Amino acid sequence: MVMYDTLVIGAGQAGLAAGYYLQKAGLRFVILEASDQPGGSWPHFYDSLSLNSPARYSSLPGLPFPGQPDRYPRRDEAVAYLHGYAAHFALPVVTGARVIKVERSGRFFRVLTGDKGCYRARTIVAATGFFGQPYIPNLPDQAHYRGQLFHAAKYRRPEPFRGQRVVVVGGGNAAVQIGVELAQVARVTLATRHPIRYLPQRVLGKDIHFWLNLTGLDRAQWLDEQSVPVFDTGAYRSAIASGQPDHRPMFERFTEDGLIWSDGCHEKVDTVLFATGYRPHLPYLAELGALDQAGRALQRRGASTSVPGLYYVGLPRQRNAASATLRGAGADARIVVNNLRRYVETQRQSQGRHAAGVVMKRQTRIWSGRGNELIALITLMMLALKQQIAAQGLASPRLLGEAVIRSVMISAGFLGVGHAATLYAPH
Ligand SMILES: Cc1cc2nc3c(=O)[nH]c(=O)nc-3n(C[C@H](O)[C@H](O)[C@H](O)COP(=O)(O)OP(=O)(O)OC[C@H]3O[C@@H](n4cnc5c(N)ncnc54)[C@H](O)[C@@H]3O)c2cc1C
Ligand SMILES: NC(=O)c1ccc[n+]([C@@H]2O[C@H](COP(=O)([O-])OP(=O)(O)OC[C@H]3O[C@@H](n4cnc5c(N)ncnc54)[C@H](OP(=O)(O)O)[C@@H]3O)[C@@H](O)[C@H]2O)c1
Repeated sequence: MVMYDTLVIGAGQAGLAAGYYLQKAGLRFVILEASDQPGGSWPHFYDSLSLNSPARYSSLPGLPFPGQPDRYPRRDEAVAYLHGYAAHFALPVVTGARVIKVERSGRFFRVLTGDKGCYRARTIVAATGFFGQPYIPNLPDQAHYRGQLFHAAKYRRPEPFRGQRVVVVGGGNAAVQIGVELAQVARVTLATRHPIRYLPQRVLGKDIHFWLNLTGLDRAQWLDEQSVPVFDTGAYRSAIASGQPDHRPMFERFTEDGLIWSDGCHEKVDTVLFATGYRPHLPYLAELGALDQAGRALQRRGASTSVPGLYYVGLPRQRNAASATLRGAGADARIVVNNLRRYVETQRQSQGRHAAGVVMKRQTRIWSGRGNELIALITLMMLALKQQIAAQGLASPRLLGEAVIRSVMISAGFLGVGHAATLYAPH
């Protein structure tokens, strides 16, 4: 079985950025991807989605996002860019390879896939994204509700909801964007636990990412625990202010056909759409001891703190607020691959020392074996000689010479039989 320096799991932006730096470092690797193409989750996002960062701030390393740099690319452009990225650098993506389990095999990792067999590597880069497991809270009496429950991850376009009464739960980017879009065809309320936090998309004529980049805020660690505010040109805030959609505090509980609002009023509702975010989903690492009780990776700056040789790219706030974004994946991947390369080199060196140790031990064994044989030969010769002398005496130098030759032949014969016995002995 081929021994890879590393196996990258997932060929979304995080896995591809890791691939770019692994290729530059000359390491031996493949990228295992569950689906039938590289590019990650982007094809599954809703139809109207645009990037919240302009093209100039949305590139992976080594290949600028094409087209006018100040526009906000659409979902399908992001899909095409990531396809193009994998092809441009001829990154070794193995599609249809869903990783089921990663396990330790001595100093290496064994990776089991569903349909593409088993792989072996010195290190692993887990880059399967954070958005694989939609989170739906369990609210009071939710099980009794007979209407439609839906997560934003499954939402594509507003048409199927035309004319319905819809409540969207959540106050993040997905909730606000979907809520505003749905409000054009349905009667929609946004239900949130906290006031919605907005971040102006443009400041002093420049996109916010220009300022985040200039001030270094995007790379700041102290923003780590903040949730993502809603990027807004002002259009979302004014749509919500005008009641399209309407905005209310979180409802109290479900009923069979609707819900009870915090003021005690009951209302019939056709669909409750949860835009309540995602939870970590790294099931293939569960048995490695790499995760905490909530399933979150135990890591610092992308290196596992509990499993040497295991790395991550693309976790939210892995290093900073930009970690799980197109603009942040490259910088994180570079740091991770640097550390990983050092780890691989150290492992190779220690393996080299280990191998040299084995050869030296074997040589010592061989030579000490030869030494034993020599002692045995001399002892046998002495015994044989003593026997000859006892039998014939030392009458003449000729007799002595003959005795020596005979004793050498006898002892060599003994040793030969001994060798043959060792060769054919069962191991
Ligand atoms: C609705 C939405 C909008 C977003 N908009 C933006 C935005 O405008 N700008 C921005 O920068 N970021 C945005 N993000 C955040 C982030 O950039 C994307 O979620 C992006 O897809 C994350 O890339 P990734 O490579 O980490 O993970 P993913 O894109 O999810 O890729 C992970 C890959 O791993 C594969 N995989 C999963 N499990 C396995 C397995 N066991 N074995 C093998 N392969 C596996 C998957 O098939 C997938 O191809 C958005 C996120 C969401 C949810
Ligand atoms: N390109 C784009 O414009 C775009 C569009 C959509 C998403 N995205 C990105 O995709 C990622 C995910 O975004 P997201 O909006 O799906 O998720 P998110 O940012 O995690 O927001 C989840 C929302 O759900 C709320 N919530 C969670 N549990 C709740 C509960 N039990 N009851 C009520 N409310 C609850 C949270 O409110 P609390 O604050 O009260 O916890 C929060 O407002 C983010 O990185 C985001 O930037 C980008």
